[in-house]
Amino acid sequence: MYLGVDYYPEHWDPSMLSEDIEKMKEMGVNMIRIGEFAWHLMEPSEGQYDFSFFDEVINRFKAEGIAVMFGTPTATFPAWLVKKHPDILLEDEQGNPKSFGGRRQYCYNSKNYQTYSLAIVEKLVTHYRDESGIVSWQIDNELGHEGSDMCYCGQCREAFHTYLSINYKSVDELNKRWGTIFWGQTYNAFDEIPVPKPTITVHNPAMMLDWARFRSESLSGFANMHLNLVKKLKGDHQEVTTNLPGGFFGKWFDHNEFSRDLDFVSYDNYPVWGGLTEPVSPAFLSFTLGFVRGIKRENFWIVEQLMGAQGHDIIGYLPRPGQAQLWSYHAFAHGCSNMLFFRFRGMNRGAEQYCLGIIDANNTRSRKFYEVQEVFKEVRKHEEVFQIPIKSDVAVIYDFDNIWSMRIQQQSSQLEFTNELMRLYQPFHEVNVSVDVLKYDHDFSDYKVVLVPVLTLVDEELAARLKAFTNNGGTVIFSFRAGMKNKDNNIPLGENLPYQLKDLLGIEIVEAESLHAGQQVSIISKDGNENGQGQVWRDLIRTTTADALYSYSDRFYKNYAALTVNEYGNGQAYYVGTGADASVLSDLALTVLNDQGISFIESEPGVEVVVRGRHAIVMNHNHEEAIFDGNELQPFETKILEWNKI
Ligand code: GLA
Ligand code: ZN
Repeated sequence: MYLGVDYYPEHWDPSMLSEDIEKMKEMGVNMIRIGEFAWHLMEPSEGQYDFSFFDEVINRFKAEGIAVMFGTPTATFPAWLVKKHPDILLEDEQGNPKSFGGRRQYCYNSKNYQTYSLAIVEKLVTHYRDESGIVSWQIDNELGHEGSDMCYCGQCREAFHTYLSINYKSVDELNKRWGTIFWGQTYNAFDEIPVPKPTITVHNPAMMLDWARFRSESLSGFANMHLNLVKKLKGDHQEVTTNLPGGFFGKWFDHNEFSRDLDFVSYDNYPVWGGLTEPVSPAFLSFTLGFVRGIKRENFWIVEQLMGAQGHDIIGYLPRPGQAQLWSYHAFAHGCSNMLFFRFRGMNRGAEQYCLGIIDANNTRSRKFYEVQEVFKEVRKHEEVFQIPIKSDVAVIYDFDNIWSMRIQQQSSQLEFTNELMRLYQPFHEVNVSVDVLKYDHDFSDYKVVLVPVLTLVDEELAARLKAFTNNGGTVIFSFRAGMKNKDNNIPLGENLPYQLKDLLGIEIVEAESLHAGQQVSIISKDGNENGQGQVWRDLIRTTTADALYSYSDRFYKNYAALTVNEYGNGQAYYVGTGADASVLSDLALTVLNDQGISFIESEPGVEVVVRGRHAIVMNHNHEEAIFDGNELQPFETKILEWNKI
């Protein structure tokens, strides 16, 4: 198991190296990650390659038994490159190129950038292919992060035309499927099609969805070029990964498209970042790790784990003593197998002076140092527990096409895919049920429960798989807007909604209403005993074969169902037609868990339990003491208990 730190030796005087290595050893480090922003150091001018600085660093660490993950440096290109080829720069929607000075400002479709970035990677990997000290490569750094997934330049426009001409047999076919007859937008040739720079009102939604898919393909194409090159050149003892950033569904790329071919998936885990007054919730944190684990359906690495407060400008919440430790154990509980902390020492110059690490600028051991040391010790002690694969009975599925469709036409100002995913996820998390987060193309037939938040876009194949899953005894829970559209991002003609899902759900959506901030509707259970609220959206449901569990209770729409269940084959299909509140969904989750015979564990709020084999990892996320199963937990304390109860 590798435990270590992100280290930037080029930031410091070489005379500090020995002392740094000593501190790392004392902390328990057996891996460092280096190199990912040091292109200029390795190629100070075009074609002049020089790896001597890193040769020395790697040797020094190797002598101490500390392994290296080396990052290819293409997230920050050297100034000489942009001086020579300004067309490598990404352009914003106004047509302004980004300036040199930050990072990630390159266009994935720039031929020049592809050429130069592949060249440095080729030289670098070839140079170190036999280096036993390097056991892993990281490609680039946080591909697509910080807005680097979007570019409107001429090269992208041309590549978009090529993409469309490959995906549509003819421009006539495109006109038909996009519905360009509307507003007289019919194209005579692919090269007339714009990139979606600002216009008056909005662009065609079918075009926008293809644009989003094209953005994703641009990024994955770039990533895969790099991945394939590294795979071809690297030593057999070396593996390849790339570090995924957070904010998954807010991105214009599908992480799965380039991550499944990595030797392992890795992730940068920041439970709090600049501007946040509070860390994200434990449920949200668990979901993020579920997403990362779900890409390959295996355990993963964290190559940047937060220890200090972070921010490029505004600085985020300072983790309370023990809290960043808790987040580390939490990550291991959810499938992290190896971990590097960001970063060994905070940098006192440059853009990240306020991205604090383990050691601060005063360069002395402090609380954070000892916290990391303890994490490493404890995690090593429980290594076996953390290696047990995670097997969940519940999965939540997503499709980036669908997410993009909702970003293109939000419909309700309150409608955010991630929130709706969390709405269904949270009630299961609350009773400590493990939930995998999967792209819809994974085989989900071996789960017992599949959650399907706001899946507007459904094609025949997915509908058939969901029907088969339910028919075979599974429980599926949809939320509103399901099955509204086809994969062209258009509404089917002559069909009642929810389109391909009508029979599975036994309902028809008669009308619908979007609910904005502060608006909510009341719902009431069939027996009249339970009241609840709905926000964000409401579908007015007429049941065909389904049973109405809740209906709306307002004057005009009280005859319509709000939450339904349909018996389908050996299973059940639920439809939650509104953004139902937590109490309604918690009841629903418990019903489903009991019906499916899935065991769950009740714990007080903020106390999370993850069962791995015969152990329960119990984590107190609260700022106060808590009790679980007779065990007292201090604020942010983690306990690993023997557990034979389920
Ligand atoms: C990201 C990056 C790092 C660094 C940290 C700062 O995760 O990968 O290079 O910028 O954020 O928090
Ligand atoms: Zn571009």
